[in-house]
Amino acid sequence: MYRIGIITVSDKGAQGQRVDESGPSIREMVKTLGEVTSYQVVPDDLDILKEAMINMSDKEKVNLILTTGGTGLSPRDNTPEATLAVIQKEVPGLAEAMRSESMKKTNRAMLSRAVAGTRNSTLIINLPGSVKAVRECLAVILPALPHGLEILSGKGGECGSAE
Ligand code: MTE
Repeated sequence: MYRIGIITVSDKGAQGQRVDESGPSIREMVKTLGEVTSYQVVPDDLDILKEAMINMSDKEKVNLILTTGGTGLSPRDNTPEATLAVIQKEVPGLAEAMRSESMKKTNRAMLSRAVAGTRNSTLIINLPGSVKAVRECLAVILPALPHGLEILSGKGGECGSAE
């Protein structure tokens, strides 16, 4: 079982003006993958976001960080930039898969600038902000995550074995 961190990125959420429903949706969906050991609601602020991700990765040693929100085109949407600033390697296939599968549901999927990548042994993945988008995007990548985390955490894993 893996250690999982959830970061909900929302100015209104951080100010207590909106109840976070997306974070709890992620928590529900990742139950089979591991334990949520860290959960934060932060504003759409580049430096606060970077700090939250670095802290969860370096200090709390989570295996997976899932962010929700701040991936769109608003001037305050900074999640992809914060993620790119803290990762060492991009994992573009995760964002590609989410966008291409989501396009079958809504053409607005192309408006998400979500990215994914690794910082040391932590995989960081951006999800869009709405509960609907979280459910749709996470459903696409969830089946591939156990194998990805197995390899990233050095637990081995045979890439050639059946899924
Ligand atoms: N992806 C899926 N699967 N389903 C959705 O409803 N909404 C889109 C897109 N991705 C959506 C989606 C919309 S409307 C926007 S504006 C972008 O994600 C960015 O969302 P964010 O700014 O909340 O991160």
